[in-house]
Amino acid sequence: MRTPIPDYLTQVLDECGGDDGEVADYIAELAQADPDRLAIAVATLDGVVATAGDADVAFSIQSISKPFTYALAIADQGLDAVVEKIDVEPSGDAFNEISLERGSGRPRNPMINAGAIAAHALVAGPGSDERFERVRSFYSRLAGRELDVDEAVFESELGTADRNMAIAYMLRTVGILEGAPPDVVRGYTRQCAVSVTVRDLARMAAVLAGQGRAPDGEQLLEPQVARQVLSVMATCGMYDAAGDWLTTVGIPAKSGVAGGLIGVLPGQVGIAVFSPRLDRHGNSARGVRVFERLSRDMGLHLM
Ligand code: DON
Repeated sequence: MRTPIPDYLTQVLDECGGDDGEVADYIAELAQADPDRLAIAVATLDGVVATAGDADVAFSIQSISKPFTYALAIADQGLDAVVEKIDVEPSGDAFNEISLERGSGRPRNPMINAGAIAAHALVAGPGSDERFERVRSFYSRLAGRELDVDEAVFESELGTADRNMAIAYMLRTVGILEGAPPDVVRGYTRQCAVSVTVRDLARMAAVLAGQGRAPDGEQLLEPQVARQVLSVMATCGMYDAAGDWLTTVGIPAKSGVAGGLIGVLPGQVGIAVFSPRLDRHGNSARGVRVFERLSRDMGLHLM
């Protein structure tokens, strides 16, 4: 007899435990997270979500926001205009490296902070408050419910955002960023502080899996935009562990420093895992193990 899906997911969580890795502490508020939380959600294209573990615990989306803001920037400006400002090559560097292409000054890709700050600035405004509101409302439509900012995480990160501020000023000197760096970093930091659960993230991932179509049939993204986003996630979503991830798990993915991790199986499902302890690349340590296990058990690898 086949194991029911929630029982199977619970079993996977039980078997992928361990207390390796460290909770992110360069954002003071994230250091307060309970390191033992563990959750998974799997969403189908028609909106059915199966979960196990701490599926209703909220955490900040952090870098998992990056592919969705990149999508919105492309929808607003067109692909060519976005690629002119942000390249699509893996950097092989850590997420917070400056990693600009020599000559053009373009950030290497939209998944590292430099590229994500540039992508945030490309979302239509007119002002920075309206721009952030469009980002928040877009994430909410993808998740199928209203999402809000965790103000404590936002304030805590903004207070120590010197490195991102430096990146934004650098982007301005090379003509990639047109807005005022403090406004752009503020908006980008708010985007990273949007509060989600694995259920929300799995639904957001499922929209990418469904070529931009939400479960209610609404086309939230053009299929070619979803394809561009998934391609960049596949090559750059796991930063300097992207090659390891693609060979072992084999699906487009994106991690965040609060411990979230999404994976997309095109045409089939969106998957999200949450576990705050991170490996040395800044990816969820147990999250990576859970995905490796799912990929083996279910043959998720696309190659
Ligand atoms: O900009 C930052 O450093 C954070 N708001 C997001 C970084 C992040 O999530 C990296 N991913 N693992």
